[in-house]
Amino acid sequence: MMSSQSIPRHVAIIMDGNGRWAKQRGKIRTFGHKAGVDSVRSSVTYARKKGIQVLTLFAFSSENWNRPADEVGVLMELFKLVLKSEVKRLHKNDVRLKVVGDLSRFDEKLVTRIREAEAMTAGNQSLVLNIAANYGGRWDIVQAARQLADKVKSGEMDSAQIDETSFDAHTSLSGLADLDLLIRTGGESRVSNFLLWQLAYAELYFTSALWPDFTEQEFELAVADFSARQRRFGKTGEQVEV
Ligand code: IPE
Ligand code: IPE
Ligand code: MG
Repeated sequence: MMSSQSIPRHVAIIMDGNGRWAKQRGKIRTFGHKAGVDSVRSSVTYARKKGIQVLTLFAFSSENWNRPADEVGVLMELFKLVLKSEVKRLHKNDVRLKVVGDLSRFDEKLVTRIREAEAMTAGNQSLVLNIAANYGGRWDIVQAARQLADKVKSGEMDSAQIDETSFDAHTSLSGLADLDLLIRTGGESRVSNFLLWQLAYAELYFTSALWPDFTEQEFELAVADFSARQRRFGKTGEQVEV
């Protein structure tokens, strides 16, 4: 029998491989990004069905601005479009949407749309869906450090109070379940500046499936793999076996 502990509470996904998926079909890269939206939908559906509490999706990294301007443009338009078309459905399905990342580089209209969607879904309980946009793991650590420095400077906090707990409380995913499982599609075995702080004890799962091919069955394979692992958190196997 599978204990409830074997279902990850918080799963993050690096949604990689859209460009290659399109190329394989003789299409332009952005065709792959559009196809990837279906995988986002099915991942959310699967996460809700499975009782996963938090799903964090890497949609756009702080380094992705270095791509050709027309690809960046299409990604931004797609983000706006999807926000508009999906938020009602997310709300109906009791999903709480949060966008994490440095929003200062997004245009005002997009930021307004993000804030409205977050406000609308703020009370939902079935799943927290974090979309990481203009997100970088190093940015997250630095912005937490800056918040703490400001608090020490203003006298609200003493530097001696800076510890792992208070630091964590200032990171983008604070207040949510610890990250249990990181999935990366697209065949690369790297983290690409995603959740650096949060990855400390996460299980890593790499699949060659390209993001538009990442179906509910593929997600199920990742969760099954996770469930079969023994997480020791520094202890011995004997200590962990009950
Ligand atoms: C991931 O797919 C989507 C984003 C980074 C926005 P890619 O666009 O990186 O696809 P590949 O890796 O080039 O195939
Ligand atoms: C990581 O994919 C970012 C997202 C999936 C949003 P990349 O395709 O940008 O990563 P690298 O460049 O291969 O490391
Ligand atoms: Mg890529």
